[in-house]
Amino acid sequence: MKQVPELQDFIAGFAQANRQAVCGLSARRASRVSDLMVMSTPDTVASRSEASDIGAACHLVKQLCTSSEANEFSMLPANRHLRWLRGRIAIKTAVQVGFRGHIARPLSAVDIDVYRDEHGAPHVRVDGVSQAVFVSLTHKDNLSIAFMSAQRAVGLDYETVKPRSAAFLKLAFTPAELQLLEHIAPPERLAWYTRLWCAKEAVSKSLGTGLKGRPKSWVTTQIDGERLLCHNQWVTTQQTASGILAWTYRTSVS
Ligand SMILES: CC(C)(COP(=O)(O)OP(=O)(O)OC[C@H]1O[C@@H](n2cnc3c(N)ncnc32)[C@H](O)[C@@H]1OP(=O)(O)O)[C@@H](O)C(=O)NCCC(=O)NCCS
Repeated sequence: MKQVPELQDFIAGFAQANRQAVCGLSARRASRVSDLMVMSTPDTVASRSEASDIGAACHLVKQLCTSSEANEFSMLPANRHLRWLRGRIAIKTAVQVGFRGHIARPLSAVDIDVYRDEHGAPHVRVDGVSQAVFVSLTHKDNLSIAFMSAQRAVGLDYETVKPRSAAFLKLAFTPAELQLLEHIAPPERLAWYTRLWCAKEAVSKSLGTGLKGRPKSWVTTQIDGERLLCHNQWVTTQQTASGILAWTYRTSVS
């Protein structure tokens, strides 16, 4: 986890780079909200509660969550509690920061209701308004990263780069996808497997379905620098020392 600061820097820089993003929210909302990413770590939880154990999580849920979120939390197995909470803190922080200065009063955490649809995709209700912004969430080890956009549905994925077995490659990628990577030297190819995998996850999240256990239905057909055309949708990937971050904006309706 010592390489996480580089990822954190990238995520902070992403908000800066997107400061000018323009959006049209509901008439009751401000017109300019930056797209941004927020990372939540055990320290994030600890900084809000002086601890990061399960007891602290229950306490924080009472402080930060709506009653329906608290209900969702109570239905989870205990080993999912901290991950769930980190994810909700990341989403709520992204929405709070995004709206800061654009509406009359700062949003508190309980003004933002994060709920999941029947497919598991996260959505937010801000001050009672559904889908005022779009969000996507990814967890890896003890990190959770949220991506918020006021423009359109988004998908985010983060994975560490690691050796992949032949069985995984066969299950995950089509022969044409593997051929796309053939010209890349083996040491760098490992990271590219992860880019392609993250692209599949990000696109499937932006469409609200997830992979549905069929990773080969989400096919990369073109690579342009660090961008991948996956399932006819461009995905941007960023390699940091700790892994690959991939994000996309939904462009199709299916
Ligand atoms: C459900 C799925 C989106 C999970 O993605 P993942 O990369 O495994 O996990 P991540 O941590 O990146 O993302 C988890 C988050 O995705 C979001 N998510 C779940 N289902 C979603 C959906 N249908 N649409 C959009 N987002 C979804 C949720 O916010 C979830 O976090 P939460 O449970 O705290 O709310 C999906 O792509 C999946 O099934 N992955 C399993 C891997 C797989 O299929 N392997 C095949 C073997 S090769």
